[in-house]
Amino acid sequence: MTHKPHTLARGVAIVGAGMSKFGAFPGKATRDLFVDAYQEMITSVDKGFDPKDIEALFIGNYSSDLFENQGHTAPIMADWTGLAPRAATRIENACASGGTAIRQGILAIASGLYDIVLVGGIEKMTDLATDRVTDTLATASDTLYETPAGFTFPGFYAAMATAYMHRYDATPESFMRVGLKNHENGALNEKAQFGATIRSIMDKKLAAAQAKGKPLPGWADEMAFLHDDRSNPVIAWPMRLFDCSPISDGAAALLLVSEDLARQFTDTPIYITGSGQASDVALHDRGDYTRLCAAQLAAQEAYRMSGLTPADIQLAEVHDCFTIAEVIATEDLGFFPAGHGFRAAEEGLTSRLGPKPINASGGLKSKGHPVGASGTGQAVEIWKQLRGQAGTRQVNGSPRVGLTHNVGGTGQTAVVHIYERR
Ligand code: COA
Repeated sequence: MTHKPHTLARGVAIVGAGMSKFGAFPGKATRDLFVDAYQEMITSVDKGFDPKDIEALFIGNYSSDLFENQGHTAPIMADWTGLAPRAATRIENACASGGTAIRQGILAIASGLYDIVLVGGIEKMTDLATDRVTDTLATASDTLYETPAGFTFPGFYAAMATAYMHRYDATPESFMRVGLKNHENGALNEKAQFGATIRSIMDKKLAAAQAKGKPLPGWADEMAFLHDDRSNPVIAWPMRLFDCSPISDGAAALLLVSEDLARQFTDTPIYITGSGQASDVALHDRGDYTRLCAAQLAAQEAYRMSGLTPADIQLAEVHDCFTIAEVIATEDLGFFPAGHGFRAAEEGLTSRLGPKPINASGGLKSKGHPVGASGTGQAVEIWKQLRGQAGTRQVNGSPRVGLTHNVGGTGQTAVVHIYERR
C-alpha cells in the first residue's frame, strides 16, 4: 500500500513558551522546574488567557522512574500547575520524548479533539551519581545486544565519530570547533547550564591555579586547552569532555492552539507547518554509522508537509548530545552534503551570525540536556528567535522559518518540526 503524503487536518500554532533554567538544582524536584517553565509560559502569552482553557497536557519525560524514583509523572504536572482534572499523558521516547510530546500535542489539535493543549518536557538527572546516570541512559539503547557489550552513550557516539573520521577528512579538532561555537552561544543564554565560553572557562582555571600558587598550564588559546588531556579528558575517544552534553535538570512548556484561535492569544503566533517522525533499528544493526536514517526520513516528512526545503530554513536547533551528532544532523537535514557538515562549523557557516545558525541557544552541549525536556527546550528557542525576543543571542535577519531536530537514543527515534512566523 502506498501512503498518501502526510498532512494535518487543521493548522496548529504556538502562542506561549517558557522554560526553567537548565543546570543542577539539588533542592528542586521535576515538578518545581515544570512550575517555573509553566509560569514563564503563562506570562509569555501576549494577550493573556485563562489557564482553565487548557484542555489536556502532553508531557515528555524519559525516566523519572529511575532518575527520581517517581513514575506516573504527567498527572503530578497537572496537579502542580492547577490543571487537574485535565487529561495528562506522559510520552517516553528517550531523548526525543520532548519532540514526540510536541507531535502528540499537534496531532491532538489537528484531529479536532482539543483546541488548546499544554506540551511539556521534564527531566531531573542530577540526583544520581554520574555512573548511575550513565547506566540509566544506557537503557535507551538495546539492552539485549548493546549494553552487555559494554556500550554506553559516549561510546556509541564515539563509534559514529570514528566512522565519520574514517570516511571523511574530519579530525577530533573538527568536533572541538562545534563545542567552541555552542559554548559561545550558550554564554549569551541566561537559561544555559554553562553560560560560559570555553575561553572564560580556561581563564577561570588559569586564575584558580595562579591563586593557589600552582604551576600555570600555559595554554596559548582555547584549542590548546581543548587538546590538553588534563583540561579536556577523553571520555570515549575521540569524544572528550567538551564534546559531551552535560548531565542536567530542567523543564520547558509550550501552549499549542488551533490555527483559527491563535490570534486571540497573540499577534505573533508561531505556526508549526511541518512535523516528521521516524524510527530505526538499534545502532549495532545498521550498515552506516555516519548518518541517522530516522532523522533523514523525519526531515523529509516535515519538509513535504510544510512545502519548504532545507534552503528555506533560516535557523535550527539540532540534537547535539555529542558534537559529532550536530555534524551528522546538519547533513541529515540537507543543510550540507554528506561529509561537509564538519567544515560548516570550521568555516563559521553555522555560527550564530553566520548564514545557517545552528544551536544559537548553546544547544544541548552548553544549554544543557535534561533529556526529556530537550526537545521542548529547542522549540522555546525557535519561538523566541522567530519573534525577535532572543536578546543578545538573536540571530541576524529577522528570521521567519526555523526547525528543530530531536533524537532519541542513537537515532532509533527522530522528530523534526518546522516553524513559521507569517
Ligand atoms: N562539558 C564540559 N564540562 C563538563 C561537562 C560537559 N559535558 N560535564 C561536566 N563538566 C565539568 C564540570 O563543570 C566540572 O568542572 P569543574 O571541575 O571546573 O567544576 C568538571 O567537568 C567535573 O564535573 P563532573 O560532574 O564531576 O563530571 P563527570 O565526569 O561526572 O561527567 C560526563 C562528565 C561527560 C561523563 C557527563 O557530563 C556525561 O555523561 N555526559 C553525557 C550525558 C549523556 O550521555 N547524555 C545523553 C546523550 S544521548
